[in-house]
Amino acid sequence: MKQTAVSKIAEMNGKEATVNGWLYNKRSSGKLWFLIIRDGTGILQAVVSKNDVAAGVFLDCDRVTQESSVQVTGLVHEDRRSPGGYELQVRDMRLLQIAQEYPITPKEHGSAFLMDHRHLWLRSSKQTAILRIRHEIIRACRDFFDSNGFTLVDAPIFTPNACEGTSTLFETDYFGEKAYLTQSGQLYMEAAAMAVGKAYCFGPTFRAEKSKTRRHLTEFWMIEPEVAYLDLDGDMDLAEAFVAYIVRRVLKSREQELKVLERDTAPLEKISAPFPRLSYDEAAEMLKGQSTGFTYGSDFGAPDETLISGKFEKPVLVHRYPAAVKAFYMKKDPKDPSKALCVDMLAPEGVGEIIGGGQREDDYDTLVAAIQKHGLPMEPFEWYLDLRRYGSVPHSGFGLGIERTVGWICGIPHVRETIPFPRLMHRLTP
Ligand code: 4AD
Ligand code: MG
Repeated sequence: MKQTAVSKIAEMNGKEATVNGWLYNKRSSGKLWFLIIRDGTGILQAVVSKNDVAAGVFLDCDRVTQESSVQVTGLVHEDRRSPGGYELQVRDMRLLQIAQEYPITPKEHGSAFLMDHRHLWLRSSKQTAILRIRHEIIRACRDFFDSNGFTLVDAPIFTPNACEGTSTLFETDYFGEKAYLTQSGQLYMEAAAMAVGKAYCFGPTFRAEKSKTRRHLTEFWMIEPEVAYLDLDGDMDLAEAFVAYIVRRVLKSREQELKVLERDTAPLEKISAPFPRLSYDEAAEMLKGQSTGFTYGSDFGAPDETLISGKFEKPVLVHRYPAAVKAFYMKKDPKDPSKALCVDMLAPEGVGEIIGGGQREDDYDTLVAAIQKHGLPMEPFEWYLDLRRYGSVPHSGFGLGIERTVGWICGIPHVRETIPFPRLMHRLTP
């Protein structure tokens, strides 16, 4: 018999349906069993009446344990009191496997315990909702670039280059040579932009983050557009249109999941372009006299970002940081060469940085000097320097961290719940 997804059960009202799922919960009242079944698309109440089913089926209701896999068949009818508004009057049930005592019960568990059981924790309604929203965000990212003239160009995972500083590199042995797991596809997207004009990559990136924060993973997913003949202002226009699009898409397509997460959507409804823009100097001014420990000239720490972004209802674009605290590839501001033509997007509600990017140094000599100044070896960058040897043009791009974006939109404070199987300094399993 054809199976029906719980999310589509309304279409079967008044008809017989078969649902394949797992037992979420159950209770009995004498001649009745109420089985709460989840199938990954929703939750359905199945009612088993002793008089309606074979004796074995009724006994199975007693035996069936939480997370056992079951198939139920019966008549669907509307019932306001049921979760989802429909109920299935069971005619037959097949027990596919009786689950052993399930470690995750409806009671409270500590986060370490849940993280150890992440492979099972994913089955909970909250985690499923996060997975679905993450998927929607990724689809929205792709759709945005795909429908705006960008070409997807995949960047390699093994690289000889340090893109974002040498302190967070994961080193591997590559047939006797040193290779690193990529920190960012950017340098490759710069090459791609010179080929196709507008390029983007989407993939996992790696950073040996030795700090334990709620914002840092050692393996995270980043989407990185890069555009030839684009300056910093154009880059900021692109970033705000992109983020506004993602938020709108999730609000429109994932209403149900946001409800499961009890996410207050009012702050998200306010996200539309343009976003406020302020220079590093203006942002630093806001930190004066605050207790975040910020000193002028340094990069913003998490408390600084929280304080700055907390002043706005929309994401804020902070541009022109001191060049000294930013990556080697950033173009200096011709009006003030101590500043880089870079931008960070800080998301509201205390989330902080979700995007980092900017205009790239396009002059050969200046770039060589910057590589030297950062103490980086020249040889692995020879291919990258070719981009400045052959038809160099102004160009810009950025990287959006998927997990921080998922965390913001879902209202989940820690990035460990925003990726199916998080990798953190002290976590490699499951
Ligand atoms: O600001 P970042 O380091 O910028 C770059 O990597 C540029 N090369 C991107 C580019 O211009 N193409 O990282 C970009 C974003 C951050 O804003 C943040 O959202 C995310 O990547 N990110 C992390 N997310 C989770 N865990 C980490 N350890 C992260 N590091 C960066
Ligand atoms: Mg950054």
